[in-house]
Amino acid sequence: MKAIIPVAGVGTRLRPHTFSHPKVLLNVAGKPIIGHIMDKLIAAGIDEAIVIVGYLGDMVEEWLLKHYNIKFTFITQSELLGLAHALWMCKPFIVDNEPLFIILGDTIFDVDLKPVLQSPYSTLGVKEVEDPRRFGVAVTEGEKIMRLVEKPDTPVSNLAIVGLYFLHQSKPLFTSIDYLIEHEIKTKGEYQLTDALQLMIEGGEIFTTFPVSGWYDCGKPETLLSTNEILLQGNAQTKEYPGCVIIAPVFIADNAMLKNAIIGPNTTIGEHSVITDAIIKDSIIGNDAKVVHIMLNHSIIGNNASITGNPHEISVGDYSEILVG
Ligand code: UTP
Repeated sequence: MKAIIPVAGVGTRLRPHTFSHPKVLLNVAGKPIIGHIMDKLIAAGIDEAIVIVGYLGDMVEEWLLKHYNIKFTFITQSELLGLAHALWMCKPFIVDNEPLFIILGDTIFDVDLKPVLQSPYSTLGVKEVEDPRRFGVAVTEGEKIMRLVEKPDTPVSNLAIVGLYFLHQSKPLFTSIDYLIEHEIKTKGEYQLTDALQLMIEGGEIFTTFPVSGWYDCGKPETLLSTNEILLQGNAQTKEYPGCVIIAPVFIADNAMLKNAIIGPNTTIGEHSVITDAIIKDSIIGNDAKVVHIMLNHSIIGNNASITGNPHEISVGDYSEILVG
C-alpha cells in the first residue's frame, strides 16, 4: 500500500533550526523525525511512499533515497496552499480508487498500523486532548465520526485528529478536494484536509476512529524535546567515556567525542560532536557541534554550531552569597 507523506511546510515554529534544515530532518533520539516515521511505516507493510516536498525539499529527497530502499515518488508543492492542496497534487499518481495511508511529516506515532490498514472503513487516528482548539477534531457517536471541525473555537469534541489517516478508497478524497479548490473554500487561509474529509462524510462516506495513544508531536521546540525524552526511554548507554558521567537514557553517536562531561538524562548527542567540560541534560545536540565549558538544560543546538561558555574565576569571602547569571 502507498503512504502519502506531506512535508512541504517551512517549519516556522522551529526556527532557527529550520532555516538550514527541513523540519523532518531534525534529529530526535538519534534519528531524523522522518526516519522514525519511515521505520514504522515499513514495519506495517507500506512499500511505496509519495512524499510531497517543498521547502528544502532536495535535502529530504536525498536523505530518504540514501536510507530507504522502497519506491519513492517526490512531488513538489511550490505554493503552500494547505494540506488538502498538497494531497491534491498526488492525484495523477493514484490509480484505481486504491486505498491510501496519509501521515503528516511531523507526527511520530506508536500504534499498530496493521489492523488500521485492513480496516473496511476509512479511519482517522485520534487522541483525547485537553485543549482541542489547535487541532482538527472529530465529533463521534460510538466509533463512527459524525462531523469534523478544524480548530474549533467552541469545544465540540476533545478528540483531536493527530495526523494519521487511512482512506479505504481514494477517489472520494480527490473529488472533495476538487470541490474545495473549484469553489475556493479555505479555512484559516488554507485548503484544509479536515474540510475535504467533512465533505466526504456529508457525501455518505463512513469514517471511524482509531486511538493513537503514542503520538509525539515534533512541531515546536518544547514538543521536540519532550518527544526526544519519550523516545529515549529505555536507551541504555553501554559505551564508557573515561572521565565522563552518563545518566541514562541518552543517545550518543558512536563517533561523538566526550571529555570531562556529564551527559543526561534525556539527551541526544549527534555525530562527530565534541563535548568538553560540559554538563548537558534534557537536550538535543546536532551533528558536528562543539560544546565547551557550559551547562545546558532544555536546549537544542544545531549542526556545526559551537558554544563556548566562560568558566568563572572568583574569590569568595566567608558568608558571601553569589548568584551567577
Ligand atoms: P504544519 O503547518 O504543522 O507544518 O503542517 P509546517 O508548516 O511545516 O510548520 P509551521 O506551522 O510553519 O511551524 C503539518 C504537515 O503538513 C505539511 C507540513 O510540511 C507538515 O508536515 N504541509 C502543510 C504541506 O506539505 N503542505 C501544506 O501546504 C501545508
